[in-house]
Amino acid sequence: KNIKIIEVKSEIGAGTRGASLGVEAIKIAALDFMSNFFVHFPSESIETENRLLFEPIESPYAKRVKGVYTMYERISKSVYDTVKSNWFPVVLSGDHSNAGATIAGLKMAHPDAKLGVIWIDAHADLHTPYTTPSGNLHGMPLATAIAEDNQDCKNHELDENTVQWWEKLKNIGNISPKVLPEDVVFISLRDYEKEEDYLIRKYGMKVITTSEVRRKGAEAVSRSVFRYLSDCDYIYVSFDVDSLDASISRGTGTPVSNGLREREAEDLISKFMQHRKICCFEITEVNPTLDRENLMAEIAFNILQRSVNVLMMN
Ligand code: ARG
Ligand code: MN
Ligand code: MN
Ligand code: MN
Repeated sequence: KNIKIIEVKSEIGAGTRGASLGVEAIKIAALDFMSNFFVHFPSESIETENRLLFEPIESPYAKRVKGVYTMYERISKSVYDTVKSNWFPVVLSGDHSNAGATIAGLKMAHPDAKLGVIWIDAHADLHTPYTTPSGNLHGMPLATAIAEDNQDCKNHELDENTVQWWEKLKNIGNISPKVLPEDVVFISLRDYEKEEDYLIRKYGMKVITTSEVRRKGAEAVSRSVFRYLSDCDYIYVSFDVDSLDASISRGTGTPVSNGLREREAEDLISKFMQHRKICCFEITEVNPTLDRENLMAEIAFNILQRSVNVLMMN
């Protein structure tokens, strides 16, 4: 595969500041390892709306949703163009809201295909403005992809403006839903709210726990994931670094205990990358301002490098 790197230094979907620096931190990690990795691939950096961080928030249950929508437009177009010109997009992104846009771009490029998603994350990111505990859009990208409102679990009344922007997010690219809930697999999910649990149960979404990864190993887990997604044509892998255990993921906005070890994540992700249906890989939520000695970015870089090596052989 011919790799193209898409850099998205946007953090307006996160609740903690600093994830927009994650992409540069990963590049610094490469330099510290004396690797010329980034020299080998064409790259594109998407313009951000991070200036909105200095402005008052309009929609408390969908913070900076207008800016996130602008990012959805830019990212989905870039991913679409990349795929259409036969490049394999590797997305390095700030906060996880960007992944909703990546999925949109993949679906726009393959409108008639069935798209599967492997979501490696401590969180389900299945909230909606109707249910969110924080208003942060990085907790909602999968809900935009499956076009879910979850009104059954409604906690807040929304103003017209918020509803309109949320509708636009779900309908980006004029295809909705992009993914069916049954075609999503969660890996290392362990910190989610009852409203998300409701959806996981309602749709019978597949969850593979940290202990299952530890017990069965990368090979067996990968086999079961691809068997589960066997009717999908293309599969996208989204790697939120907070899937890693809190002991090594200080450098992310929302660290959670009982996560993956570095080696477990690396073995599993590089196993996924061997599969012919993999169409895109994203790494997100590295926040060097919270870290010590750039550890999170170094781990992300190691996983990036090994994954890309595998992709290039396939
Ligand atoms: N569920 C929580 C929320 O909606 C946390 C989401 C964290 N998401 C992430 N991409 N780190 O605020
Ligand atoms: Mn996430
Ligand atoms: Mn997360
Ligand atoms: Mn299926």
